Amino acid sequence: MSTSATAETYNYKVVRQFTIMTVVWGIVGMAVGVFIAAQLVWPELNFGIPWLTYSRLRPLHTNAVIFAFGGSALFATSYYVVQRTCHVRLFSDKLAAFTFWGWQAVIVLAAVTLPLGYTTSKEYAELEWPIDVLITVVWVAYAIVFFGTLARRRTPHIYVANWFYGAFILTIALLHVVNSAAVPVSWFKSYSVYAGAIDAMVQWWYGHNAVGFFLTAGFLGMMYYFVPKQAGRPVYSYRLSVVHFWALISLYMWAGPHHLHYTALPDWAQSLGMVFSLMLLAPSWGGMINGIMTLSGAWHKLRTDPIIRFLIVSLSFYGMSTFEGPMMSIKTVNALSHYTDWTIGHVHSGALGWVGLVTIGSVYALLPRLFGREQMHSIKAIEAHFWLATIGIVLYIAAMWIAGVMQGLMWRAVNEDGTLTYSFVESLKAMYPYYTVRFLGGVLYLSGMLLMAWNVWKTVSGARPAEAPVPQAA
Ligand code: HEM
Ligand code: HEM
Repeated sequence: MSTSATAETYNYKVVRQFTIMTVVWGIVGMAVGVFIAAQLVWPELNFGIPWLTYSRLRPLHTNAVIFAFGGSALFATSYYVVQRTCHVRLFSDKLAAFTFWGWQAVIVLAAVTLPLGYTTSKEYAELEWPIDVLITVVWVAYAIVFFGTLARRRTPHIYVANWFYGAFILTIALLHVVNSAAVPVSWFKSYSVYAGAIDAMVQWWYGHNAVGFFLTAGFLGMMYYFVPKQAGRPVYSYRLSVVHFWALISLYMWAGPHHLHYTALPDWAQSLGMVFSLMLLAPSWGGMINGIMTLSGAWHKLRTDPIIRFLIVSLSFYGMSTFEGPMMSIKTVNALSHYTDWTIGHVHSGALGWVGLVTIGSVYALLPRLFGREQMHSIKAIEAHFWLATIGIVLYIAAMWIAGVMQGLMWRAVNEDGTLTYSFVESLKAMYPYYTVRFLGGVLYLSGMLLMAWNVWKTVSGARPAEAPVPQAA
């Protein structure tokens, strides 16, 4: 695959595969989310079957939405963006195909082992060691394809979206290998090499940076490509995007201890985590402003183009959750919010609002190009999806905020004689209305995804996969 191939094309096949699977896994992961949300209202939905217990399905939900839905979206868009912005075909078709099938295998193995109860019990790193090894191999292949493509680029500079994707790929490799280090005792059981407070520290260094790099940096790469593309304008400030990049990646690494306030972790480490979390507000908002301002001069598109609306509203949720996060990292605030549904509200304003909407918008923008169509089959359906998703998120997060603050206040309320005002069960009973509203919010968000699946189906069926030529000029 060396020089002067005539009519070289981009590798869209692997992008198409990952894009379709983004929608499929999105529906699966969110359906499990809706099911566990229902279990919290109607616990009988366990049906007395161990595989359907909440404790087994919850990690299935988180793995499916983060690694299957989010992961497929990141693979798809990074492969597309790196080719288009470097004017070169992917470094290796075979390795790229391997990452697709390898990643799907990881997901299927997760979907089988988690309900069976095999887990390391480390949040977001629950999968047992043989699957961890497979993840490492797939990830190394991914890094080779991505950085190999960058190295062979025909453009003089590296577009900023690739910086974010590159940081995401490198950091996830490091986090995964360090946090998953374990001593296997059988095919299905291993023990972490870390113990006690160190185990907790390593786990939340991983956990927080999984948020920072998997759920944020990679999706910022997506944002920096698809927002300017869809708006038909250059990024508002290229300089700000570079400052945004370096500030974000240098601060995120230190914020993990905010997950361990008031624990056995040394107090200075907790304070360090809090201070770095507060500082994170600045680059996060810099990025949000850069994205939103890219639309300046084209604000009317918000009214006419539902895809732009998905992308811009995702940025407002990004701004909201990156304001809320630093506030929750303040120790005295965390004393109230920790262990409560406030955290769940924060998670989903980031997950449904930022990660979900930016992915959905990008897929709507990308899919027709991959299948040689002008646009998606139904723009009306995209409009409807936007409202279903937005109303769903608002119901979900508003319910969780109220539930969370109520829990925090009920747990700490004391009578004059020093006894607790409320028993735990009383606080649980008070949650029913809010859990029901959250369930309804989830149903709306999921219905939007089902509508998307129909629209994708109609766009794709009968279409011939598109092949785009790589520009040959130097
Ligand atoms: C400046 C940015 C952010 C900061 C400083 C931050 C801070 C925090 C804090 C303090 C908590 C609660 C920790 C606890 O009490 O246990 C938390 C939880 C969490 N945040 Fe954020 N957050 C930020 C942005 C985001 C975004 C954008 C997302 C999602 C896309 C996100 C996802 C999560 C998740 C998944 C958890 C729950 C972790 C767990 O306990 O399982 N965060 N965050
Ligand atoms: C229809 C949409 C969704 C529904 C109904 C839903 C529902 C739920 C429920 C009920 C929980 C457990 C809460 C608890 O234990 O109290 C949960 C946890 C979680 N969900 Fe979702 N979810 C949805 C979509 C998503 C998406 C798209 C993402 C990520 C991209 C996501 C990421 C998470 C994470 C990280 C947690 C664990 C939070 C923590 O431990 O603090 N969810 N979800």
